[in-house]
Amino acid sequence: MDVKVSAAKQVRGSVRTGGDKSVSHRYAMLAGIAEGTSEFENFSTSADCASTLACMEALGARVRRNGNHVDVDGVAGALQAPARELDCGNSGSTMRMLSGVVAAQPFTSTMIGDASLSKRPMRRVIEPLEQMGARIESRDGCAPLTIHGAKLRAMEYTPPVASAQVKSCVLLAGLFAEGETTVNEPVRTRDHTELALRAFGGEVRRDGNRVTVQGGYLSGGSLPGGILSGAKKLRALKAYVPGDLSSVTFFLCAAAIFPGSSLLVDSVLLNPTRSVVLDVLSGMGLNVHFLKVEDQHGELVGTMQAEGGVFQGGTIRGEQSAALIDELPAIAAVAPYSARGVEIRDAAELRVKESDRISAVVQNLRAMGAEVEEFPDGMRVPGGQKLRGAKVESFDDHRIAMAFAVAALRAEGETTIGGAEAVAVSFPEFFEALHKVVE
Ligand code: S3P
Repeated sequence: MDVKVSAAKQVRGSVRTGGDKSVSHRYAMLAGIAEGTSEFENFSTSADCASTLACMEALGARVRRNGNHVDVDGVAGALQAPARELDCGNSGSTMRMLSGVVAAQPFTSTMIGDASLSKRPMRRVIEPLEQMGARIESRDGCAPLTIHGAKLRAMEYTPPVASAQVKSCVLLAGLFAEGETTVNEPVRTRDHTELALRAFGGEVRRDGNRVTVQGGYLSGGSLPGGILSGAKKLRALKAYVPGDLSSVTFFLCAAAIFPGSSLLVDSVLLNPTRSVVLDVLSGMGLNVHFLKVEDQHGELVGTMQAEGGVFQGGTIRGEQSAALIDELPAIAAVAPYSARGVEIRDAAELRVKESDRISAVVQNLRAMGAEVEEFPDGMRVPGGQKLRGAKVESFDDHRIAMAFAVAALRAEGETTIGGAEAVAVSFPEFFEALHKVVE
């Protein structure tokens, strides 16, 4: 589907997104494993989180959904062998994190995904899960994955890549092993799994970049006697899922390129492992004020006001690139409008996301007439450029479609985004929400 986006004069109003995708995935998985009925308000409307819910249903949980309200009846540890393949759709989070759960069950599961997910690297989860005792068949390190579950051994693991999905996979597997499982993160990544585990009654400790989960939770393989011998169960949770800051980022980038713009963002996730984008955009000239911040089940949630000033640009590298991995396409797409340009380095992980996001951004920027230099691990986009409306492509990647809808707002003439339906993967209401704040 093509969507046309015209140039705008100003960005004003309020933005509210569906619930955070990362938090929704974790709540859905843990609710399915827990004992009792979990109830979520503002659950993510994304196709990705619908994939996670469908997988949890296939594993025996009962899911009732009414818009963004979701109830999940958990199986109290007794997951069932799925009668069909676990279809993860486009969702790397579903495949990587849930592989840790099914690897600890006494049955075999096959996880499949769409064309994009079937090309993404899965050795990063296969290796630690095999070290814990599971056996996994793959197609050259990619999906489909056939996971032969086993009674897993606890372990200490240092992932070779900075990845919250890999950390989460190992911690979730560790939940069902005997003893303590520890992940030493090379770089601190989002900590929603740790916070969600605690909210559901799990025991997690953090010491710097070292996270330890206490195992011994009931798995589908535990004998009924396991209950008597003290096997533990997670307990259901009632929670409001805070708004998705990565989705809000597209609007913040739109505000950043229009001096005098003003956006109110209500009930958004402000977890410090995710809010680095606010520091970076503030450093580049966006004015951000917090009106209210509170703690909900360990997650920081707040309301903020963002106002556009002079968009300066700057350099993003090292740990900052890892912390901003989902937000980089949006920042890169508006980089030509900055005063000093934007350089992004140490972001080679972008090449193995839903698309090769470095190549996708570079190709679309060039189609709009921008000058841009591509590096293996990033790009340099000079500032002070004028773009023209053009035909760009989503490359079947939700974040690329949304990033270029925002870049189109300051281009001369109309931009056509091919494959725009990809936005449904994380933010189905994106174009309506954009339309509401653009003048
Ligand atoms: C996610 C972690 C990140 C991110 C993805 C969601 C998560 O992936 O890009 O969109 O919810 O844990 P990596 O863990 O591969 O960096």
